[in-house]
Amino acid sequence: TSITVPWVVSSSVHQYIPKFAPSWVLVIGGLFGLQILAIVLNILRQLVLPRDKSLPPEVFHILPIIGSAIQYGDDPINFFFKCRERYGDVFTFTLIGRKVTVALGPKGNDMILGGKPNVVSAEEAYTHVTTPVFGKGVVFDCSNDALMQQKKFIKFGLSTENFRAYMGMIEDETYQFLSTDSAFAATFNTPNRDWGSFNAVKSLAELTILTASRTLQGSEVRSRLDKTFAQRYNDLDGGFKPINFLFPSLPLPSYRRRDKAQQEMSKFYQDIIQRRRDRVTNPEDEEVGHDMLATLAEQKYRDGRPLSDEETAHMMIALLMAGQHTSSATSSWILLHIADNVEVQQGLYAEQVKHFSTPDGKGFQTMEYESLKNLPLLDAVVRETLRVHPPIHSIMRKVMQDLPVPSSLAAPSESGAFVIPKGYFVLASPAVAGTDPRVWENPAEWDPYRWIRGGSGAGAASKDELSGEKVDYGFGMMSKGTESPYQPFGAGRHRCIGESFAYVQLGSIIATIVRNLELRLPAGKTVPPQNYHTMVVMPKSPCDIEFRRRE
Ligand code: HEM
Repeated sequence: TSITVPWVVSSSVHQYIPKFAPSWVLVIGGLFGLQILAIVLNILRQLVLPRDKSLPPEVFHILPIIGSAIQYGDDPINFFFKCRERYGDVFTFTLIGRKVTVALGPKGNDMILGGKPNVVSAEEAYTHVTTPVFGKGVVFDCSNDALMQQKKFIKFGLSTENFRAYMGMIEDETYQFLSTDSAFAATFNTPNRDWGSFNAVKSLAELTILTASRTLQGSEVRSRLDKTFAQRYNDLDGGFKPINFLFPSLPLPSYRRRDKAQQEMSKFYQDIIQRRRDRVTNPEDEEVGHDMLATLAEQKYRDGRPLSDEETAHMMIALLMAGQHTSSATSSWILLHIADNVEVQQGLYAEQVKHFSTPDGKGFQTMEYESLKNLPLLDAVVRETLRVHPPIHSIMRKVMQDLPVPSSLAAPSESGAFVIPKGYFVLASPAVAGTDPRVWENPAEWDPYRWIRGGSGAGAASKDELSGEKVDYGFGMMSKGTESPYQPFGAGRHRCIGESFAYVQLGSIIATIVRNLELRLPAGKTVPPQNYHTMVVMPKSPCDIEFRRRE
C-alpha cells in the first residue's frame, strides 16, 4: 500500500507513521492534535502566564475561541450569578472569539446603559444583525442622533389619543380570535363548558401579530395578514436568531431567505404608502388615521427632511420585529403563571368585574385607556412577569474607546482602575438585575402582590421610577433609570419606547382572556423553564394551557 504523507506532518516525524494509515486519518489526527495543543496552551495561558492587571478578571474556559459560549447560551443567568460569586461584579468571558465584559449591579448597569455613544456603541454591537432584517437607513444603520429623532417620531405615534382608539380594537381582535381560531373555537363556541387546550407560545404569537397589525401597523397590514405575509415574516425572523449575532453572514439558505424577505417586506410597506398617497385607502378612515404609518408620514428630521418611503417602510419592519417576540413572550408567560396561580387569576377577574361590569351585571364594558391605571393587579401581573422573565436578558454595546471601570463598581487592581479595552463588548443583564437576591425578596418567586404590598420586595424599583433623575436624550423627557434594578425595557438613550404600547396591548389581551376564559395547567404540570436558545426568552415546550369558557 502506498502512503501519502500529508503536508501537516513534517518529514522528521513521518517515519513514525504507520505504513497502512490512509492520508485522511493523518489529516484528522493532525487537526485533532492541533486542537489539543490549542486547548492546552489556552489553559496554560490562563493559569501560568502573568495576567494584565488592568484588565477585568477573565472567566476560566477550556475551549479557545468558543470560550464560555455553551454555558452562556444554555443558561446565561445561572452563568452570570456563578461568575459573580467567583470574580465579582465585573468579569470578561469569551464568546466565539469576542471578549465580552459583563458589569452587574446598579453601577454596572449605569456604566453600560448610561455610557456615551462614542464610548459604548449599540450601533456597532447590533447593526450586523438588525440592518439585514430592518433594512437600510434606520435604527442601527444611521447615526445615533438620527436614531434618537426616529424614536421621537415613533413616540408621536404612541399618543394617548391613539391608545384610546387601540383598546377597543385589541379587545375586539382578541374576542374574534377566541371565537374563530382552531385551537379555541370549538370549545369556546359551545355552551357546555368543556375544557380545551392551546399552546401558549403559538397562540399568543398569532394574537400578538393580529392585535399589533390592527393598531400600530394599520388596517391594510391587518387585512393582508395571509400566508405570504406569514412566510415573509418567518423568513425575516429566521435571520434574527442568536446564530446571526455570532455570524453576520454565512452562505446558508436562511440568510438568503432573510435578504429576499427583507426586500419583499420593504416593497409591501412602500406599496401601502403609495396607495395612501394615491388615496386608494382613505386616510380619513377612523382606524387608518391612528396607525404608525399615518404618524410617520407627517414627521421631519431636524433639518426639515421628511422620511423617505424606504425609511418609513424599514421603520415599520423594525417596529414589527421589536414588538412581536417581546410582547408575545410576555403574554405567554403571564398566561402560564395565572393558569398556575388560581388566586391571582380570580383576583384579575374580580378586578374586571369591579370596574367594567355592565349595569345589568351580564357583560363587560370596553376598558378605557385611562382605566388601565386603576387596575393595580393587572399592572402588577405585567410588571412581575417582566421582572422574572425580561424577554431581553442581555444588552450589549461595543467599546469604542478604552473604558475605565469606576472604582465604585469594581475594586481597583494594583495598577489602578480596571480598563475595558476598545474592541471589547460590554454586557448588562436586565435578567440578573430583576432577580438579584441583593435587591429582591424571594427573587425567583412570581408574586405580583409584591408590587402592591411595596416594601423592600419591590421598593427599590418603584422608588427609582418615581424619584429617579429625568433626562431627554432627544425623544422626550424620561426617567434615566440606568441604576434601577428593574430594567426589562432597558435604560438610558436606547431605552424602549414601546413600553406604553406593550402595556396597552398586554393589558387588553390579558383582560379580555380573563373575562372570557378560566385557565389551568394540565395535571401534574408547572410553569415551564426558560428557553435561552431563542433571541428572546421563551417558555420551553411543552407549554400547553387548558381553558374553558367562563360561566
Ligand atoms: C428598545 C424591551 C416592546 C420598540 C428596547 C430595549 C429593551 C426593550 C430591553 C433596549 C435595548 C438596548 O438597550 O439595547 C422591550 C420589551 C417589550 C418591548 C420587554 C415588550 C414587553 C416594544 C414595542 C416596540 C418596541 C411594542 C414598538 C412599538 C423599541 C425600540 C427600541 C427598543 C424602537 C429602541 C432601540 C434603541 O434605541 O436602541 N426594548 N421592548 N419595543 N424597543 Fe422595546
